[in-house]
Amino acid sequence: MSFSKVNLLDLNLNPFKMIGKQWYLLTAGNNEGYNTMTASWGQMGEIWGVPTFTCLVRPSRYTYEFVEKNDIFTVSFFGDEQKKALSFCGSHSGREYDKVKETGLTPVFIDGTTAFDEANLVFICKKIYEDKIEKDLFLDKSKLSFYDSDAFHKIYIGEIIAAYKKD
Ligand SMILES: Cc1cc2nc3c(=O)[nH]c(=O)nc-3n(C[C@H](O)[C@H](O)[C@H](O)COP(=O)(O)O)c2cc1C
Repeated sequence: MSFSKVNLLDLNLNPFKMIGKQWYLLTAGNNEGYNTMTASWGQMGEIWGVPTFTCLVRPSRYTYEFVEKNDIFTVSFFGDEQKKALSFCGSHSGREYDKVKETGLTPVFIDGTTAFDEANLVFICKKIYEDKIEKDLFLDKSKLSFYDSDAFHKIYIGEIIAAYKKD
């Protein structure tokens, strides 16, 4: 593994591009069992005086079970060369497929959780808040169309307790 710890304040990044366009792998669990999935919704910033990453996970995802039962989740960002791998992890479930075998990605067990060796940036996030997206709370009802055919997301705010950058 060739990661080193990085201070978040030293990072120069574009969250809109990284999250919305390049996507990331959301992972939870450890060497005894983990799952990962592609996500393109999320936010990074500061809440309650700490750096945070917020993700939204539909309860139908296998990854949801791992995010629910673990205190930590990780966010792994990759270069464009892994786009195919991320497409796979976003269109197949860990219930039916071994995503590592199918994509060639290498899990890294770090800080009691799981990330990927091919990532160029990893956030280790400790869950500090969770909530369910609720129909009645939408002010812009047009966004409800995202829920025509699947259940409402659960939202998790994680404190970024460590960040690792590829050397
Ligand atoms: C580009 C892209 C972005 C996605 N973003 C999210 C997301 O933010 N939240 C979510 O719940 N699912 C998202 N998904 C869908 C999951 O990645 C997909 O359902 C995956 O197969 C779940 O795998 P799992 O069952 O192994 O957890 C996204 C899929 C793609 C392709």
